[in-house]
Amino acid sequence: MAENKGKYYISTPIYYPSSNLHIGHTYCTVMADAMARFKRLQGYDVMFLTGTDEHGQKIQTLADAKHISPQDYVDEVVAGIKDLWKTMEISYDDFIRTTEERHVKRVQALFMKMYEKGDIYKGEYEGWYCTPCESFWTENQLVDGKCPDCGRPVTKAKEEAYFFKMSKYADKLLENFEKNPQFLQPDTRRNEMMAFINQGLEDLCISRSTFNWGIPVPLDEKHVIYVWLDALSNYITALGWPDEPEKYDKYWPADVHLVGKEIVRFHSIIWPAMLMSADLPLPKQVLGHGWLLLEGGKMSKSKGNVVDPVMLIDRYGIDALKYFLLREYTFGQDGIFTNEVMLKRMNYDLANDLGNLVSRTVSMIEKYNGGYVPELTDSREAVDEELKQVSIGAASKVESNMDKFAFNMALEEIWVVVRRANKYIDETAPWILAKEEATKPRLDNVLHNLAEAIRIVSILIHPFMHTTSDEIRKQMGLWYADVAWEDAFEFEMMQGEQVKKGNAIFPRLDIEKELNELEALNKSECGANTPLELKSEIEYEDFDKIDFRVGTILSAEKHPKADKLLVFQVKMGTETRQVVSGVAEDFKPEECVGKKVVVVANLKPRKLRGLESKGMLLFSDNTVDGKERCEFVTTIADDGNSVT
Ligand code: MSP
Repeated sequence: MAENKGKYYISTPIYYPSSNLHIGHTYCTVMADAMARFKRLQGYDVMFLTGTDEHGQKIQTLADAKHISPQDYVDEVVAGIKDLWKTMEISYDDFIRTTEERHVKRVQALFMKMYEKGDIYKGEYEGWYCTPCESFWTENQLVDGKCPDCGRPVTKAKEEAYFFKMSKYADKLLENFEKNPQFLQPDTRRNEMMAFINQGLEDLCISRSTFNWGIPVPLDEKHVIYVWLDALSNYITALGWPDEPEKYDKYWPADVHLVGKEIVRFHSIIWPAMLMSADLPLPKQVLGHGWLLLEGGKMSKSKGNVVDPVMLIDRYGIDALKYFLLREYTFGQDGIFTNEVMLKRMNYDLANDLGNLVSRTVSMIEKYNGGYVPELTDSREAVDEELKQVSIGAASKVESNMDKFAFNMALEEIWVVVRRANKYIDETAPWILAKEEATKPRLDNVLHNLAEAIRIVSILIHPFMHTTSDEIRKQMGLWYADVAWEDAFEFEMMQGEQVKKGNAIFPRLDIEKELNELEALNKSECGANTPLELKSEIEYEDFDKIDFRVGTILSAEKHPKADKLLVFQVKMGTETRQVVSGVAEDFKPEECVGKKVVVVANLKPRKLRGLESKGMLLFSDNTVDGKERCEFVTTIADDGNSVT
């Protein structure tokens, strides 16, 4: 066993159980898992925390739409999330749910601690609220009247509420960024956050009273605690703070909160301010990773353009997917997910490079040495030393890349060994050495050195792909030995192990065939098989107020002042109307003429960038080749007819 290097506490965000998770969520968890496994292998006492963020208006609305309680709603989704982590072999040490009693009482304790400090007061909140992000915004912060984080519409909120005197901590927060450049990485995020504080930090509204799916404010049960205050606290409530402090004392402060870039502000400003208020130490580091995007933009369930990790795992296996996510993307930057890039990585790096190295070596040891790894002889050459140096030098390079969360570079360093070993086979040509008895000592050395290189690779890949590592070790006859990181620094450890050929560790994929099948699967997943996420129910009387009519588009042209808008002349019965729609990116004006469309005919007229729009055309969202575009909702009926 490696020496105990102390403790290491890493967390993922706690996910909203609003619907099943997609590959973007798994990206963060896979990184945290690889890091946790890496640190354990190095001898750290690791605490790896993940969980679910279950309160808030969004969840309540979703549950209401399904006529079930919010608790029943989240229980079902959380069970699915736990299953996903099980399938993905995520090695978390604790999974915290914000609806658990242990969390609820400790959030209330934290609230009271901040209150007793004099940092919480009652006031009136007036501003804008983005429900999907559960974020409050001032008028100035909105971008084009919409949420600056996600671009979705916001609603006006005015209510009596409790406030946290966050402004009081502005200087201390700035000082923290200045004194600890490592506190928030990458640097771009740090600069953004410092600019955000410098614009003037406002007090934070930390309670809501218009819905009740949340943790009650201890002093005033009409209010529930703001979901972000509730959620951020998980990092210490899971450790037992304040009533069962054993784990808290051992693991806090966290070494790393790994989060997506859009929630860096919550973790590097709001969370530290809360901790300052409660006189608790700050986490050592917040790391903001980039997003996985599809060619058409960010993945989102409501857009129906998500990639389902379970489907990919079923087809290619968990290790291939984990390898791809960790190898392909650069930490901190956004990356585009495409099936083609994924399949190529799986074929070239895994099936060709790693798979071939193992299967060729095992076959040769079986064929030329009765299945036993040969002992070293005196027949050494310069290439042997080169292979040895590349192999034993990789572990420290992996370490320094892992220190920077550069998973892709850590894996690249391992593949330098894999590729060097493959080249070594070509250079030494064991099949020629096997032809004559005189070259048997040389052949023995070659096979031995290859076995050593593969042994080292099996250790190095262990944090990233432990099942593959185990399989390689089984085939190399190393099943009896624990994987020990320090053994990756040693060559010449193999002692006549008996190898045994198994299945190909990564089968070769027919990329064309896979691409077609994935596309077909994706089509069926995005449509009929995707659970609906609906807005809340409306009364029949509300629906009955809308007058839908069939119209014919007589002409369409670009709006003179807005690139995204098209101006349509639509004939309905004897009337021709002007309707303005935001679809200029989806259609050329000429392809719209003559279309029979469905119009909301009695919508109050309004001006869009100076032109009057009387009514609204209906479109459906569609995803074609990963790109979103809309389609007209059309009919063959004559214009003027009502749509019922
Ligand atoms: N519940 C909050 C987090 C509270 S932490 C105290 C939340 N949940 S979330 O489910 O919306 O997102 C959780 C994480 O998943 C975020 O860090 C987010 O960046 C990550 N991802 C969601 N979609 C993603 C991609 N498409 N790509 C990469 N990460 C993505 O925010």
